[in-house]
Amino acid sequence: MKRRFDIGFLGGGQLARMSIQAAQRMGLRCLSLDPGDDTPASQIAANIRGELHDSDKIAEVLRRCDRVTLENEFILSDHIDEAFEIAQVDESILTPGCRSLHLIQDKLRQRQALARHGVPTPKAVELEGEGEAAVEQIGFPMVLKARFGGYDGKGTRYAKTYEDLIKLRPLWAEGGWLSEQFVPFVRELAVMVYLGPQGAGCFPAMETIQTDHVCDLVFPSGVDASEIALAAVEAVEGNGLYGVELFELPDGSFEVNEIAPRPHNTGHYTLDWGGVSQFEQHVRLVMGWPVSTPTGIDTCMANLLGHQPSGYHVDAIGAALAEPGVHFHWYGKAVAKPGRKMGHLNAVGPDCRARAVKARERFYEAWIRA
Ligand SMILES: Nc1ncnc2c1ncn2[C@@H]1O[C@H](COP(=O)(O)OP(=O)(O)OP(=O)(O)O)[C@@H](O)[C@H]1O
Ligand SMILES: [Mg+2]
Repeated sequence: MKRRFDIGFLGGGQLARMSIQAAQRMGLRCLSLDPGDDTPASQIAANIRGELHDSDKIAEVLRRCDRVTLENEFILSDHIDEAFEIAQVDESILTPGCRSLHLIQDKLRQRQALARHGVPTPKAVELEGEGEAAVEQIGFPMVLKARFGGYDGKGTRYAKTYEDLIKLRPLWAEGGWLSEQFVPFVRELAVMVYLGPQGAGCFPAMETIQTDHVCDLVFPSGVDASEIALAAVEAVEGNGLYGVELFELPDGSFEVNEIAPRPHNTGHYTLDWGGVSQFEQHVRLVMGWPVSTPTGIDTCMANLLGHQPSGYHVDAIGAALAEPGVHFHWYGKAVAKPGRKMGHLNAVGPDCRARAVKARERFYEAWIRA
């Protein structure tokens, strides 16, 4: 008889690692599935090495764990359905469910689900043929997106004119791309939403600053976007923890950009804000336990991205911690490729944004020298 686990994660990156850390605090036995060797999750818990689209490997996780969750939205829901057939276990052990994953993982289907439920979101159509539908229904400027698998802006392009659209044709001619309205937003926000049998609600709306399409800084926005964020998660038949990215328009209204069915980079501030963290809330939802009402102190998160050349990060942590109220997090990734999310730091309390920026500068300076 193989060892059993309380909770399984399909994926072994930093989101699985931080969820496992929250679960282990409560004594849960954790398992992750990941194709890599020496991954953030496998460094701290048991793991199965295997491809995330391998239905047999997914079935092994389903069989060996009481509850299972996702680390990303990229595993096709068909593979998970197939894994359930193989494993012959009840589908209710998976949070979020396959149906919600199916609605989210195709960005076009996601937009259509939001629109059907009257949730404000940019209009989108499939890119096909010569792009006629896009030209007629979306117009210029337009945003082009890969329907599946995009992250950190990989899979996002802009076309200001018809010539731009045609220039990009080699990218989208094979199919799998959408065209959507360009939104002239004043800022971007993100809200963590939880929804389960034991209650539903939102963490505060955070402002997010993106640099080169990678989230750079996250801090309190001072506005309430709970209503639209919750409606968005309901529109994709949500169950569990979700990150909702929003655009704030010049008139103060919101549109939904995209939804992630999992803990989210913009929720990392909750690790140090003094209230429940997004990871603990996630574990509670996956296990079917009561949720905690989220409240805490104003906190700013700054992502720590890979730099080359860089030294041993441990030699640079002290430089970041010299700034008061700062907490340091590192994911244990094997290689610090430029632009890769290697860790983050949180600055808690008054002037948190300025302190987070300062601490990060000090860390980068010391890390490059280290
Ligand atoms: N319709 C739009 N109008 C204007 N800007 C947009 C639009 N869609 C996306 N963007 C910009 O591109 C960024 C990346 O887009 P999106 O969030 O859809 O892609 P992603 O690669 O899945 O993102 P992530 O960085 O969250 O992994 C957004 O944060 C926003 O700055
Ligand atoms: Mg995004």
